Amino acid sequence: MPPHDQPSTSSKNPVPREAFATSLGAVVVALGSAVGLGNIWKFPALVGQNGGAAFVLLYLVCVAGVGLPVLIAELQIGRRARANAVSAFRKLAPGKGWRLIGISGVIAAVIIMAFYTDVAGWVYSYAFKALTGGLAADQTGAIFDQTIGSPVSSLIWQYLALAVPTIVVIMGVGKGIERVIKRLMPLLLTLLIICGIRALSLPGASEGLAFLFRPDLSKISATVVLTALGLAFFKLSLGMGAMLTYGSYMSDAQSIPGTAAKVVIADTLVSLLAGIAIFPAVFAFGYAPTEGPGLLFVTIPSVFAEMPFGAVFTFLFFVLTAVAATGAMISLVEVPVAFIHETLGWSRRKAGLWTAAVMALLGVPAALSTSVWSSIKPFGLTFFDLFDFVSSNILLPVGGIGIALFAGWVWSKDLFVKSVSNEGSLHNQGLMSAIHGLLRFATPVAVTIVLLNGLGFIKI
Ligand code: PHE
Repeated sequence: MPPHDQPSTSSKNPVPREAFATSLGAVVVALGSAVGLGNIWKFPALVGQNGGAAFVLLYLVCVAGVGLPVLIAELQIGRRARANAVSAFRKLAPGKGWRLIGISGVIAAVIIMAFYTDVAGWVYSYAFKALTGGLAADQTGAIFDQTIGSPVSSLIWQYLALAVPTIVVIMGVGKGIERVIKRLMPLLLTLLIICGIRALSLPGASEGLAFLFRPDLSKISATVVLTALGLAFFKLSLGMGAMLTYGSYMSDAQSIPGTAAKVVIADTLVSLLAGIAIFPAVFAFGYAPTEGPGLLFVTIPSVFAEMPFGAVFTFLFFVLTAVAATGAMISLVEVPVAFIHETLGWSRRKAGLWTAAVMALLGVPAALSTSVWSSIKPFGLTFFDLFDFVSSNILLPVGGIGIALFAGWVWSKDLFVKSVSNEGSLHNQGLMSAIHGLLRFATPVAVTIVLLNGLGFIKI
């Protein structure tokens, strides 16, 4: 999403490329990609299904140990190449197979959107329901089942959720979204904090907190480790070129490590806040933490129900969640659009429409898998779960391995350190050489082991 039409200062690129207006704007837009349904919907659902605090702990380790270095590498690859996810690798390492990383990213974007738009559609519909009084507190479970169980209305809401980011991407975004996201993010945070305080004041809240923060290490298994790693990639929008594409719009003066650190910290705080808003309520109202995808949709309306202006809060909550989801979807649509626009020379409009058409098509099996197609299970998973699993737990980690190997082996330590320190003007050389070492050895080896172990190819 290129929110400013100033040509970049990169001399190698003959076509003037767009660039972010300000350094803060660049951070906010990258954060806009990271923060989304991953924090508010997926994080709590997975924490609940994978044993609570032990999973949170593993997730934090993955974010800090793998997510942060890969994010730095991915942003830097984009900024150095000043190109889309596929062309970037072709430009930086011509003639080699590295562009497969970008191609797998374009494919991942489409697969993620297939189920992401489905959930975003539920969120949009909940905002509407809250507005029209359709969220009776004592029926939240039934309302959720009805929402996902109706194929036609799910598809309509899903397509609406797909149309919004597509339009934004086609418009080329301008300064608008940068400004919108900058204003709305603090509002979302405030609301999450209110929600958290409210949840903490419920009787029995401490049980929820303990579930979230007191780890029971016996809950850890190979699949749980892979799930935590997959979530870290999904959360930080890594391994599929979204951050690479955004990095390509960042100025040469931007601190890439600083941007990455801010994104990682802020994004993680939002996830933890969402957990604090949801788990005390889960236990207070007697829901099962293992509920999965429905957790957000059944607990949040219940949390707000008895509060003064509860309906207003619920409405605001889902509107802001919709905004967060839209910010993430914009980056998902932008990956194929930037690629098609720059390599085939199609207009952003044509590229956007075709991208949305493919996403809409693949969205159908995802949407129907919670209703009429719920018994169709390739590889033992519904289409919804399959798309989620293949993207988060396979394509993104594999893309992450590729990015780490690229930054660690194609780039020498000198080149890496020079470019992420902005030619020595940032005094982070020691730390960045260590990060280069991580990317060269530890990251690819660790991710490969977790991947093979989680998929059952090796046993540790
Ligand atoms: N990070 C987004 C979220 O947490 C999802 C996303 C994944 C966006 C991959 C872009 C790329 O909701």
